[in-house]
Amino acid sequence: MPNFYATTPIYYVNDRPHIGHAYTTVLTDVLTRYHKLFGYDAFFMTGVDEHGQKVQKAALAKGISPQEHVDEYSEHFRNLWPKLNIDYGYFIRTTDDHHKKFVQNSLQYLFDKGEIYSKEYSGWYSVGEERFFEESELIDGKDPISGRAVEWVEEKNYFFKMSSYQQKLIDYINENPNWILPDFRKNEVLGFLKKPLNDLCISRPKSRLSWGIPLPFDEDFVTYVWVDALENYISGVQDKKHKDGSPLWPASFHIIGKDILTTHCVYWPTIIMAMDWELPKHILAHGWWLIDGSKMSKTSGTGVNPMDYVDTYGVDVFRYYLIREMVVGLDATFGHDSFVRRINSDLANDLGNGLNRIYKLILTHFAGKIPVPAEIGEQEKELEKYSQKAMQFAKENIGEVKLSLIVEEILNSVRALNRYLEITAPWKLAKSTEQKDKDKLATVLYTGAETLRVALSLLSPVMPQKAQQGLLMLGASDTALKGGELLGKGEALFPRIQEEK
Ligand code: ME8
Ligand code: MG
Repeated sequence: MPNFYATTPIYYVNDRPHIGHAYTTVLTDVLTRYHKLFGYDAFFMTGVDEHGQKVQKAALAKGISPQEHVDEYSEHFRNLWPKLNIDYGYFIRTTDDHHKKFVQNSLQYLFDKGEIYSKEYSGWYSVGEERFFEESELIDGKDPISGRAVEWVEEKNYFFKMSSYQQKLIDYINENPNWILPDFRKNEVLGFLKKPLNDLCISRPKSRLSWGIPLPFDEDFVTYVWVDALENYISGVQDKKHKDGSPLWPASFHIIGKDILTTHCVYWPTIIMAMDWELPKHILAHGWWLIDGSKMSKTSGTGVNPMDYVDTYGVDVFRYYLIREMVVGLDATFGHDSFVRRINSDLANDLGNGLNRIYKLILTHFAGKIPVPAEIGEQEKELEKYSQKAMQFAKENIGEVKLSLIVEEILNSVRALNRYLEITAPWKLAKSTEQKDKDKLATVLYTGAETLRVALSLLSPVMPQKAQQGLLMLGASDTALKGGELLGKGEALFPRIQEEK
């Protein structure tokens, strides 16, 4: 059994989760579920990033301690995931003792190895992104990622000799063209690495930031948020094993948003190289969900609470929209109209109608038992090809996380089924008394039900509950349908969203 371990970013707990967090976590869940479906021992980890100036500020503003703040806000994340049908293997908090010890041990190792030194430093600090920017990186004097103000900071700090790994990193990226996905993000990282790389500031003086992990070699300092945060990917699974006994690290996939590309593709790999750890196998950066053309984020005030759509239309339908609508890598716009259109056309019309038609016809004409097909002819073989193509496409493209294309290929098999029904017209065959029409009816309904079984099982990573309900309607198990088996209880799985004009 091959192994699979994926991660999401660990999210800041300065505010409540929003659709961006929901998306990355759903995406990682879907990716992990596909690997399970295809026979992997698959596991994914998510969690929260609890240290740093952002959290300290948020707690201060509310007049509570940082620990009280993170205890409360980490629950908002942890409680959201089950509501989104997310089946994570482990939830890490960076305030966990084992994590703090892990980070301290690694820093001591780097310090002893001569990879860390201290110096007076000045630079532009963004609290929003919790990192320093070069003067040349600023846009109109502001943080180039969030567009928010930066502050000039002058202080003694500790630095990791990141610059000495620049060439090694460039070589690694060039030798492993699939390491950073999609391709254009890899090129962005290589572009960034054309300029001389600076050393990485890894500390904050306690006088300015007390809410962090103390440096083991200087107690007047805490570690800078990124070393702490990035190491979660290893600290969180140190005591865990795959079923075959092998360790989870190195991760198969880090799934991140494009906002944290540099931290994951430059800071993290150079820290790993210095630590003599193994590199993760892939890093995938997706784009942003936009509303009215700007990034949705908790701090910009346009945050849409994903639970609104989940409560109104159902969790699996929401997951379907996220996965189908965003081409992984590119930005996408979250819009009410596009939501309604997508759900009505793909799920209500195509999948829902196909399923209802087949189900009702079998119920009426075969006493609710899957018919035994007669002769499998050209039309049926043609339809089967669509199912096989979807299956093969999913297996071949899951490694590059092409989820929207995979879903589209599955829906193509459902559309082919609906066309097949239009052509073969089982409702007409059912009225005939001739034996050859009765035989054809059995063949059509069997073939249609089997097409739906394959489509539903391939959609189960995206819509775990709905797919399961659909499969139960067909009385299906993991294998091809058998004539004579009883249908389950019927349900309207994908009601049309009715909108007042
Ligand atoms: O950066 N569209 O945490 P964070 C899509 N703690 N995804 C979005 C998004 C949007 N509009 N907004 C946020 C941090 N995301 C650090 C990470 S990891 C070691 C430390 C998602 O709370 C996306 O995955 O700001 C992005 O990378 C992440 O949330 C940032 O979450
Ligand atoms: Mg952010």
